[in-house]
Amino acid sequence: MSDAPPPAETAIRLAGLRFAFPVDGRRVEVLGGVDLAVERRSVVALVGPNGCGKSTLLRVVAGLLRAAGTVEVEGRRVAGPDPRVGLVFQEPRLLPWRTALANVAFPLEVAGRGRTEREDRARELLGLVGLREWAGARPAELSGGMRQRLAIARALALEPSVLLLDEPFSALDALTRERFNVEILRLWERIGSTIVLVTHSIPEAIFLADRVIVLSPRPATVAADVLVDLPRPRRLADLDAAVVTRTAAAIRAHLAGATDDAYAVAAGEVGRHEALEEAPR
Ligand SMILES: Nc1ncnc2c1ncn2[C@@H]1O[C@H](COP(=O)(O)OP(=O)(O)OP(=O)(O)O)[C@@H](O)[C@H]1O
Ligand SMILES: [Mg+2]
Repeated sequence: MSDAPPPAETAIRLAGLRFAFPVDGRRVEVLGGVDLAVERRSVVALVGPNGCGKSTLLRVVAGLLRAAGTVEVEGRRVAGPDPRVGLVFQEPRLLPWRTALANVAFPLEVAGRGRTEREDRARELLGLVGLREWAGARPAELSGGMRQRLAIARALALEPSVLLLDEPFSALDALTRERFNVEILRLWERIGSTIVLVTHSIPEAIFLADRVIVLSPRPATVAADVLVDLPRPRRLADLDAAVVTRTAAAIRAHLAGATDDAYAVAAGEVGRHEALEEAPR
């Protein structure tokens, strides 16, 4: 895993990543030496038990937390919040008083882009996630799935080469979630970015990803790297293929040491997660 492919093909390179939170006067180790190379334009799913460090890992890659070790995106070090990386949090963090359009335009505003450019780009992104008609709506007027799409549109505002999605589907009902999975793949085909997504659903991980990375219980290390040998473009019916069953069995075997309750094995089941992600830093 530390044998990274040549730099031009590597979107994300993590080497020896270690991170600990100070809790009550002691250090709680969360990342225990993570090594991972993610190929450009691929989709990688991260699975692992509750609290193992998945959200922390994404925040480190986005430059929101600083860890020991190496974080590189497109061959360059990530040293702070990085416009090359778009992050969608476990709970969409939208600005409630702003319209959908103004939410998407917000990162462009912070980046100092002019009004016309901001609005044109925000409209284009709303169209991309199927919310063109909802530009004037506020987050409270949108459904959970629509809010997630809005959060994704906002994460894409600065044209990141890497999109990180932290359990973006966990609050959706089973049917919406399946449709959303298909939409994400279509979106990915259109924007051509590298996607890393956290999920507790093994079928979902297989349906979306080229590789499923199984993390160990905290402190997280890469416990297994499972290739998904399923051709693209993919359809939901592909989930019935024998290769999916085999791949799922392999992933479950690697997860065997982890707690069972963290895994919703049927697509659409909601993974339990604690509210720690929202804890103040
Ligand atoms: N802000 C924080 N301060 C202190 N400790 C934290 C903080 N955020 C997370 N932790 C700790 O880090 C560990 C990993 O948390 P993280 O949110 O990364 O896990 P996770 O794998 O995303 O879990 P889940 O599947 O429940 O979302 C947890 O055990 C938690 O106790
Ligand atoms: Mg999490």
